[in-house]
Formats: sequence, structure tokens, C-alpha cells
Amino acid sequence: MASSGNRTCLSLVLAAGEGTRMKSALPKVLHRIAGRSMLGHAISSVYRQGSGDASGDALAVVVGPGRDDAAAEVRRFAGEADIFIQAARRGTAHAVLAAQAAIARGFDDLIVMFADTPLVRAETIARMRAALAAGAAVAVMGFDAVDPTGYGRLIVENGELTAIREQKDATDAERALTLANAGIMALDGRRALEILSAIGSQNAQNEYYLTDAVAVARRLGLKCTVVMASAEEVMGVNDRVQLAAAEAVLQDRLREAAMRAGVTLIAPQTVFFSSDTRIGRDVVVEPNVWFGPGVEIADGATIHAFSHLEGARVETGANVGPYARLRPGAHLGRDAKVGNFVEIKAADVGAGAKISHLSYIGDATVGADANIGAGTITCNYDGFDKARTEIGAGAFIGSNSALVAPVKIGDGAYVGSGSVITENVEPDALALARGRQATKPGWAAAFRAERQGKPKKRP
Ligand code: UD1
Ligand code: CA
Repeated sequence: MASSGNRTCLSLVLAAGEGTRMKSALPKVLHRIAGRSMLGHAISSVYRQGSGDASGDALAVVVGPGRDDAAAEVRRFAGEADIFIQAARRGTAHAVLAAQAAIARGFDDLIVMFADTPLVRAETIARMRAALAAGAAVAVMGFDAVDPTGYGRLIVENGELTAIREQKDATDAERALTLANAGIMALDGRRALEILSAIGSQNAQNEYYLTDAVAVARRLGLKCTVVMASAEEVMGVNDRVQLAAAEAVLQDRLREAAMRAGVTLIAPQTVFFSSDTRIGRDVVVEPNVWFGPGVEIADGATIHAFSHLEGARVETGANVGPYARLRPGAHLGRDAKVGNFVEIKAADVGAGAKISHLSYIGDATVGADANIGAGTITCNYDGFDKARTEIGAGAFIGSNSALVAPVKIGDGAYVGSGSVITENVEPDALALARGRQATKPGWAAAFRAERQGKPKKRP
């Protein structure tokens, strides 16, 4: 990767989009791809990605008026970010200048990124910063468009970028150019305000175009350059069809990265990751598995088919599924087993513990090597509050038991099948809480004999 050395950098993300084509109550940039908002993706691809010292890096985000939700999302990724509001949409250069106070603090590099371009790789941003380090005042991310309609065209003369022409302002000859502006721009942070404030709005849309930074920089005798990226990488998202297309690209990247890092995916196309999924070596993931946000899987675990995981940590050698659901706060210890149709929420399952079939374990601690029988339910909710269940190490819970929280089962204790446990059970005790069985020898035969030959009652 190109080194950006110790140059300081301001990453500026423009997120003041309208996004009306999403047909959504949610602003466009908060729609998610691989479990992370597009705004989050944009921030992660530009902010603190340099290979050098990141202590001089800063982040500024421009949001639309009243967009507290977008601002809150920025804070989730970078609490220290400066958030600016662009009161009226008057063009991309105008949006950049909404963050004038941050730019004025003086950075070596300024990266301007659109929040609806979620697939840009950090390496590409590093190449743009390298272009600045090599002496360019403006570096523009370009790509070869199959259909360049709607994009700004990069005008290159004698190998030098001289201008960017917006679709609406272009001549027919310029519209025939396929070298298009991806929308991401790197500027010499020491000259940026001088360049940006010289941009006017005399164009077909009466907007302040960031793209005019190129022509302005040229007039000031500064050098402008193009950094190429693939069309896939700069894919923009304006509607839900493009959202799904971007999801597909990102999932393929995540699958490939997992396999290259030592994970076996038997049917990669059926496994869905989140951007933050962390998964160790020699993990085997069977077909049709979903990883929501916040999942961490240690080396050598197996995730069987049709499992759904979210906010969960699975330790080495543990087995999950098939058809298991791990919800936020599930933590499976080393070699633990959670089998089919088992749901775990906010529960610590100790090493070697087994919950093999048809159970709900929520707000609980399960000790090491405990055995939880089929159909065990922790009754953790009374309609108002949640309460905890603690099951000791080596305890044995008989099948079809209900543990009514708050309740503690001591180490090594037994709970008889079909019990409804409402009181604590001391270590090594046996608790039975069920109706006693009554058996009447010969009763069934006598009943049949008595009924024989009598007409059946019709309801
Ligand atoms: C822009 C570029 C075009 C490039 C294309 C790539 C300009 C003038 N044109 O065109 O060369 O090929 O992106 O997708 O820059 N925004 C604001 N405030 C504004 C206007 C825009 O925050 O006042 C934000 C939008 O939310 C969006 C981004 O800037 O994230 C781009 O704006 P948009 O209007 O979509 O620009 P394009 O016409 O697509
Ligand atoms: Ca656009």
C-alpha cells in the first residue's frame, strides 16, 4: 500500500443526500450493507486508513438539516468527529464549505467522499493520498464507465487532468468520453479553501460544483491528476435495487476474505457476513448461515447449516446448530454445544456445556459441562422485568423443564424432567417439581371392554 507518511488528513464525508428514490422513512445513508450503514462504510473507508501515524487524522461529516439520526450514526463510528449541517443544497462544493471551520484547522490532505458510495477500498484512498504526497493539488478518482450518462467526465489533455464537465454542461464530444468522475476527491489541504472559495455557480444547475476544483487549481498553476478505480468499487447507491447490488459485491468480498483467512465455506454464496464479523482459522461454516453484526468466532468452531447469529461470541471448538439462533450477548465457551432449534440470548454458556435440542436460554449463566435437556426454557420475563437464571457447573437439567427466574441451580445438581423450578436448588441436590405419576394396572383393557359394542357419540 502506498504510504501517506506522517501527513495529517481530514476526511470529509458528504451525507446531506435526499435519497428520495429509496422510498424510505430512513435517510439513504443509514440503509445498511452487510450490517453496516452506508455512512459507516464511507467513514471506515476514509478515516484513519493511512499506513502511517494516524494521530493527525480527523473526520468531518456534513449532514442535512434535522438529521439527528445521521449525526448519531457518525458518533457511533467516531465520537470525535466534527458534524456540520448544510442548511440548503447548493452543490457539492457548497457542501464541502459547510465544513470550512474544520478545513481551516490546516491539514496536509483533504479527502472528500460521498456517503452513498459504500464500496470504496481503503487502498484506493491511500493511492489518492500518495498522489497528493507526490505533488498533486487535486487528485480525482476516475473509472471507465460502460454507460457514463449522469457522471461528470474527466477531461484529460496531454496526459493531464484539466477539467471535469458535468453531464448537463457537457458538449456532445465531451459526453462521448467514458472516463468518469467517481465523486471522490483528494485536495492539498493547505490550498483547499483558496481553491474551493474560487468556485462559482455559473452552470446549468446554478450549483457550486466540487468538480470545478480542477479548473480552478489549474488556473492557480497547480497540478491535477486522476487515480483510477474499478467501476464496481465506485458503485453508487440511489435505490434499493442498487442497494442489493452493492450488498452482493460486498458479500462476495467478505466471503473471499474469510476463505483466504482460513475459514471453510462449503457453499459460500449462501453464507452472509457482516462487515465486522470476526472469524478464526479452521472454522467450518455449513450452508445457509447468517452472521448479523457483532459476531466473533474463534478458531476451530463449527457453524452448522441454517444458523442465525448476531452479537455473539463463540469460543474454540464450539458447535452451533444446525438451526440454532444466537442473539446478542450469547457467549459459548470452548467446546460448548448448542444444537437444533435452540435460542440463546444474553447468556454465558460454559466450556463443554451442552444444550442440544429445542431450548430457550436467556439472561442466564450455564456452568461448564452442564447438560441442558431438550425443551428446557428459562422463564426470564414476567411481562415487566427480566430476571436471571444461574445454572452451576456440571448440573443436569432434565428435559422439558421450566426454570422460572430469578433462580439458581447449584453445581452438580439434578432437575427432574418436566419440572417447573421456582426455588433455588442447592449443589448436588435433586429437584423434582412435577405431578406424581399414578398407574392403574388393567385400566385401559377394562375401559375398552366396557365401551365395546356401544354406539359412538357424535359431537
Ligand atoms: C457528482 C459529481 C459528478 C460525479 C458523480 C459521481 C459534482 C458536481 N458532480 O454528481 O461529477 O460523476 O457525483 O456519483 O460533484 N451533496 C450534498 N449537498 C449538496 C449536493 C450534494 O451533500 O448540495 C452530496 C449528496 O448527498 C451526494 C453527493 O454530494 O452524497 C453527490 O451529490 P449528487 O447531487 O448526487 O451529485 P451528482 O449529480 O451525482
Ligand atoms: Ca449522485
